[in-house]
Amino acid sequence: MAAIKNFDKKIGELKLQYGKINCPIVFNFRTFCSSWEWTKRSDVLTHHIHKYPAKLIPYIPIFFLSSQMCAKDDEVMDPFTGSGTVLLESITHPYFKRNCFGIEINPLARLIAKVKTTPLDLKKLQDKEEELFLNLKRKDINPIIPEYDNLDLWFSENAQKKLGKLRACIEELKDDDYKDFFFVCFSSLIRKVSLADPNIPPPVVLKPDKYKKGSSRYDEMKDFLKRNRIPNVKALFKQCVKDNERRVKSLSNIEDVSNGVAKARIVWDDSRDPKIGRLVAKGNIEKKGAKVFKENSIGLIITSPPYITAQKYVRTTKLELLWLGLVDSKSLIELDKETIGTEKVKVDDNLVRTNIKIIDNLCNKIVDISRERAIMVNRYFNDMILVIRNSYKMLKKDGRMILIVGNNKVCGYNVKTYGMLAEIGESIGFRKEMVIKDRIRSRGMITKRHKKGGLIEDEYIVVLQK
Ligand SMILES: C[S@@+](CC[C@H](N)C(=O)[O-])C[C@H]1O[C@@H](n2cnc3c(N)ncnc32)[C@H](O)[C@@H]1O
Repeated sequence: MAAIKNFDKKIGELKLQYGKINCPIVFNFRTFCSSWEWTKRSDVLTHHIHKYPAKLIPYIPIFFLSSQMCAKDDEVMDPFTGSGTVLLESITHPYFKRNCFGIEINPLARLIAKVKTTPLDLKKLQDKEEELFLNLKRKDINPIIPEYDNLDLWFSENAQKKLGKLRACIEELKDDDYKDFFFVCFSSLIRKVSLADPNIPPPVVLKPDKYKKGSSRYDEMKDFLKRNRIPNVKALFKQCVKDNERRVKSLSNIEDVSNGVAKARIVWDDSRDPKIGRLVAKGNIEKKGAKVFKENSIGLIITSPPYITAQKYVRTTKLELLWLGLVDSKSLIELDKETIGTEKVKVDDNLVRTNIKIIDNLCNKIVDISRERAIMVNRYFNDMILVIRNSYKMLKKDGRMILIVGNNKVCGYNVKTYGMLAEIGESIGFRKEMVIKDRIRSRGMITKRHKKGGLIEDEYIVVLQK
């Protein structure tokens, strides 16, 4: 318990420093947390069960979850759950295990977050695995291949047949929690056996000639393409199952998690209008009979919202979404449009005033250069107003909302997203407690928005108090 005291002491120091200079305090979460064995994070627990764009470094949630910013028995919430980093850290914290709610729009992310936080019976898992591999030998199982124009562009015919058979065999299994585990393993294979460039997060057809002839990268890419004409789907899947079994085992070994005392629940798909529904198979949400979120009920909200137009969550995960049958060509476009931070806006939409001067001024400046970009930025902040307002309502008195966000460049303007979100928070009734700045080192699969959109380098952590 002595180690815990260091977190509150550090938070006190950061607050004091911020109070004195009123600008972001530089602080390295990773270095601070790595001083103790119990906070060191790598491929531990289920963190690495599946890749996801802009995954949060676990050190930020663990830092705040280790402090008294949240009472021991309070519930935690992440309205932009992504692959579930906050949920996992919350239920597995070595000293304070807290229940955690999640909301996430991308069904693949919901599926990953669910599997990441669900303990399984290892014996049953092995039985299911045996059954699955026996099914793979059967001749009477028809492959389930997504109907998608250009599928041939992304997968060889041989890969399509093998993936289709594997998906059909997983569908045959009973018991959703176990099926979901195998679907996550299946999803991890998709890019590995595709014809998409493995070096670029959103799928782009691999052209080895793009790399310097004779370089090791060029040779690797040639091999990648050759291999993926006739990929060994079964062997890759087997390896993935083995690795993920080990991860789920370490989660299931935590007593409070395995006996359900500490639970993560993904309850809804849109944090602009949060409700409590029921997560069912394959990351789907049953909305019938959904309840409203109780006001003044959550102790701490920790979340990393999407970046303005900089992360292509839907595009980056589209091949997996299609193969899992979570979207078709039409609903894929709809999902992209609905995601906060989308680039899919209508140019004839109106700019809607946010009544936050700095945001409205920025949109008015951008509109002179690009109406489309101005609408994207405007929509992003209006969406974030809804989320922050809902978060305020959900939080208990004195509860905190911690936003982890990067800045952007839009049409040559530096957009201080963190400052604007803080202003939104203050306009709603939050008190800005402090802002911390950390360098991004391990946010996986970060993409540049476009040629002129600078790569996000710093992460800002805005602490708001109700
Ligand atoms: C930066 S990522 C979160 C990453 C997450 N912290 C993790 O560790 O994986 C932001 C997430 O917000 C989700 N999102 C975008 N619009 C949303 C909405 N309206 N409601 C809920 N989630 C949304 C995106 O799909 C994306 O997964």
